[in-house]
Amino acid sequence: MDIPRHIAIIMDGNGRWAKKRLLPRFAGHARGVKRVKEIVEHCSGLGVKYLTLFAFGRENWKRPSEEVSFLMNLLLEQLGKEFLRLHENDVKIRFIGDRSRLEELICDKVNFIENLTKDNKKLNLNIALDYSGSYDIIQAVNLILAKGNHTQITEQIFEKYLLTYPDPAPDLFIRTSGEMRISNFMLWQISYTEMYFTSKLWPDFNKKALDEAIRWFNTRERRYGMTSEQL
Ligand code: FPP
Repeated sequence: MDIPRHIAIIMDGNGRWAKKRLLPRFAGHARGVKRVKEIVEHCSGLGVKYLTLFAFGRENWKRPSEEVSFLMNLLLEQLGKEFLRLHENDVKIRFIGDRSRLEELICDKVNFIENLTKDNKKLNLNIALDYSGSYDIIQAVNLILAKGNHTQITEQIFEKYLLTYPDPAPDLFIRTSGEMRISNFMLWQISYTEMYFTSKLWPDFNKKALDEAIRWFNTRERRYGMTSEQL
């Protein structure tokens, strides 16, 4: 079976998972963390080289402030608890997004973890934090303008300024919870990504569910604009 080199996931449905059980939304996020660990481990075991997880979008700041702080604290706690284990497992962790609005404590931890794991090789784990696809594109444009040495750019040059550079584009995109939209995730990078939507809520998305998504990926014919016969 073909293992996708890069998988990108929108981990959606934590709130609904909790609501179904008459639990507070927080309980859904906490259960979601369990799945994050399971899926990261499974990807590493399968030989996936890049995994990008949408942990917190730029638009998520609009949530009730208690939920925003809960999510930030949860992240901080997990980063504190898990990063050494990930480091020991040769995982390179990178955070993609705008760092300017993050609390100092989180920002420090993010920088520390990136630096500690920068030479790791087994799995590249990107955590999208205060990220959006349109932000990614605009920050790239601003970097190019600030540099001021291009009068014209190409797609290849442009990509070098994206937050995900030098990672290859995702092969497989997964969104849980039945929503069928991109919600401003990686806009540029998914031009030829295979899109998998499942009604499973994120806290229920276990490694068997990931295997199923990968089996589906294997049924796809990736033509990149060509005809079947040309492949
Ligand atoms: C979407 O569910 C989920 C989020 C906005 C947060 C995702 C975060 C985690 C799974 C935990 C932290 C991550 C890491 C990397 C440790 P939702 O709240 O939108 O659910 P709903 O649509 O059912 O309300």
